[in-house]
Amino acid sequence: MTNAGIPLSDDKGIGVTSDPEVRSARKAFLAAALRRPATMGAVAPSSPRLARVLASVVPRDGEPVVVELGPGTGAVSVAVEERLPAGGRHLAVELDATMVAYLEHTRPALEVVHGDARDLGKLLADRGVDHVDAIICGLPWALFDEATQTAVLGEVSRAIGTTGAFTTFAYLHGMTLGAARRFRRTLRSTFDEVLVSATVWRNLPPAFVYVCRRPLGGGMEA
Ligand SMILES: C[S@@+](CC[C@H](N)C(=O)[O-])C[C@H]1O[C@@H](n2cnc3c(N)ncnc32)[C@H](O)[C@@H]1O
Repeated sequence: MTNAGIPLSDDKGIGVTSDPEVRSARKAFLAAALRRPATMGAVAPSSPRLARVLASVVPRDGEPVVVELGPGTGAVSVAVEERLPAGGRHLAVELDATMVAYLEHTRPALEVVHGDARDLGKLLADRGVDHVDAIICGLPWALFDEATQTAVLGEVSRAIGTTGAFTTFAYLHGMTLGAARRFRRTLRSTFDEVLVSATVWRNLPPAFVYVCRRPLGGGMEA
């Protein structure tokens, strides 16, 4: 996949900034990363450029239901909100109570769900959601064992069914590790279509996005 359909305008996502909102988000993110390195998996929020690539599968029309997994301080939520049409619904499942409180304070439009991505099906059913158009994922896959990866991907597959889309990202330097290559193979054995975006250099560290569709095991409506 090239960056077709993804805005090409440049932005400041990784350097020094005087924007108080960005500074406060970075501070909250770093504090969480230092407190809980085993569940954060990064030291800085995704850049606006990476966020826009992740959010590129959010439908611009109709009344889509979009779910974010691991929103953290909401860096990707902003890009989802920019695309989401007025009738859309945007839920965000976050494990960490501090991040939940931060999001509830800073992103009032977001339907924040305090929970574990491994329980996605139940969390959605509790909220009356039986179809999801897009899942945008910021979970730290590298920190998950294979059983957890498989469990979460199973939940994602059931939620998007045959018509939805799923995006997630990985860091470029991580691809030298066997675990990251294994995760790519897991994605390819879980979804009929797995596209890999161009490298997003304006992210700390540089990253790329997986765009996945049509789970091989079916989905919610299958
Ligand atoms: C690397 S951060 C990504 C934050 C944001 N999406 C971004 O790209 O800047 C990972 C986030 O996933 C959350 N997380 C980790 N395990 C989770 C789980 N099992 N369910 C839901 N959220 C989880 C962490 O608390 C953290 O906020």
